[in-house]
Amino acid sequence: MRFKHFVNTVDLARKIMHYYVKEGYKVVDCTVGNGNDTLLLAKLVGPDGRVYGFDIQAEALSITKEKLVNEKLDERVVLIKDGHENIDEHIYEEVDFVIYNLGYLPGGDKEIITKVDTTLTSIKKSLALLRSNGILLITCYTGHKGGLEEKEGVENYLRSLNQRKYSVLEFSFNNQRNNPPILYGVEKL
Ligand SMILES: C[S@@+](CC[C@H](N)C(=O)[O-])C[C@H]1O[C@@H](n2cnc3c(N)ncnc32)[C@H](O)[C@@H]1O
Repeated sequence: MRFKHFVNTVDLARKIMHYYVKEGYKVVDCTVGNGNDTLLLAKLVGPDGRVYGFDIQAEALSITKEKLVNEKLDERVVLIKDGHENIDEHIYEEVDFVIYNLGYLPGGDKEIITKVDTTLTSIKKSLALLRSNGILLITCYTGHKGGLEEKEGVENYLRSLNQRKYSVLEFSFNNQRNNPPILYGVEKL
């Protein structure tokens, strides 16, 4: 296939991570899943940085742990088997970056999904932990049951944020059919 700059929102989120995340940063992956974002973050923060990763599924955390160990990156990552809505019970320091990739675990149980109420609780707590000029990314999917409701909840909440305190961007492929995912980017001012 020919090279493309605009592949999908997951790729766009990765490009933003490459651009923004620096050595020594403290970052959070609120939906570890198969660990692809956690692994990239672990590389980008370097030996003096820290990655916190949340997932409610043991399966997701064990797949991710194996990937991290294989690349000798596990010492800079704290994997937490708990809902991201409890983020404030596990992280007691300011963080530079937070990412969410909502929905279900690819290749896993499609009934286990992120849910609007807990997602919103978590986003509010993450914004409180984020430092000034820190960035938070959220990818929302609308093709599965509950996905549209979650996306609308996230969108409405982000829209309500005071523009003097946060800048909110929305990235979507507006000419694509079949419910393309949407990436929201928030910068804390
Ligand atoms: C789309 S997947 C994440 C994909 C991941 N970013 C990757 O790179 O493979 C969503 C994940 O969110 C997890 N999840 C669902 N509810 C959660 C919650 N309340 N807290 C943390 N993780 C949750 C699911 O178990 C699933 O693994």
